[in-house]
Amino acid sequence: MSAVLSVAGIERRVGDTEILRGISLDVQKGEVVGLIGPSGSGKSSLLRAIAGLDPINAGTILVEGKPPKPGDGAIGMVFQQFNLWPHLTARENVTLALRLVRKQSKAEANEAAQAMLERVGLGKYADRRPGALSGGQQQRVAIARTLAMQPRLILFDEPTASLDPELTTEVLEVIRALARDGMTMLVVSHEMGFIASVATRTLFLDHGKVLVDGPAKTVFRDAPDPRLRRFLATYLERVAWTLPGEEG
Ligand SMILES: Nc1ncnc2c1ncn2[C@@H]1O[C@H](COP(=O)(O)OP(=O)(O)O)[C@@H](O)[C@H]1O
Ligand SMILES: [Mg+2]
Repeated sequence: MSAVLSVAGIERRVGDTEILRGISLDVQKGEVVGLIGPSGSGKSSLLRAIAGLDPINAGTILVEGKPPKPGDGAIGMVFQQFNLWPHLTARENVTLALRLVRKQSKAEANEAAQAMLERVGLGKYADRRPGALSGGQQQRVAIARTLAMQPRLILFDEPTASLDPELTTEVLEVIRALARDGMTMLVVSHEMGFIASVATRTLFLDHGKVLVDGPAKTVFRDAPDPRLRRFLATYLERVAWTLPGEEG
């Protein structure tokens, strides 16, 4: 089996609330899966379940053929809040887990941190603390920290939701570069133009279910579901986008 991620019929309830109502999804190596849907549709819950952070009531989740285990390094997660340590430099934020969890030597961890900070365009900022970095730069440090652990699957949960538009762009470009490098990713975002152009496949979630799962043309042009069309209409007024093959 070559799927990096295999999700079959998962359900999650908290009390009387059904949060995930039978979600299935296979992700192959190198795929970039976009997750869109209204607030409260279950996007974050799905990512948390995949990461093994929340229990599920039914179904199965396999990551590289095994149940997900938080901390085993197979999955990396990037959140809306960057969750950097304010008293540590960018370099120290990246090396922390390498030193404590991976037991790397200081020299080894510093070298890996420098390489990852350069990969996100922050090689010159390694000695800065988060307070001396913009929000976009902080999120890029958080991405470098995730990359340093060499995950085989990265889950992004609205990575630009707390950023101004110009800072959003620099973070999206880093994610786009990861996609070009063949990283397997699930990306929750309200940046429809970005998802349409970067995702190999997009899922539309509503009330804990996947209503549409397809390539950009199916999801963003054909939109074969009234709820998806209504959802997209709220963005169409504000955002213009082009799809692969439709440029110019
Ligand atoms: N721990 C929880 N306890 C109760 N309800 C929850 C919990 N986590 C999420 N929910 C509910 O599940 C639904 C989906 O939430 P969430 O996954 O955060 O949606 P999204 O990320 O798409 O906005 C929402 O109605 C939310 O209120
Ligand atoms: Mg969410």
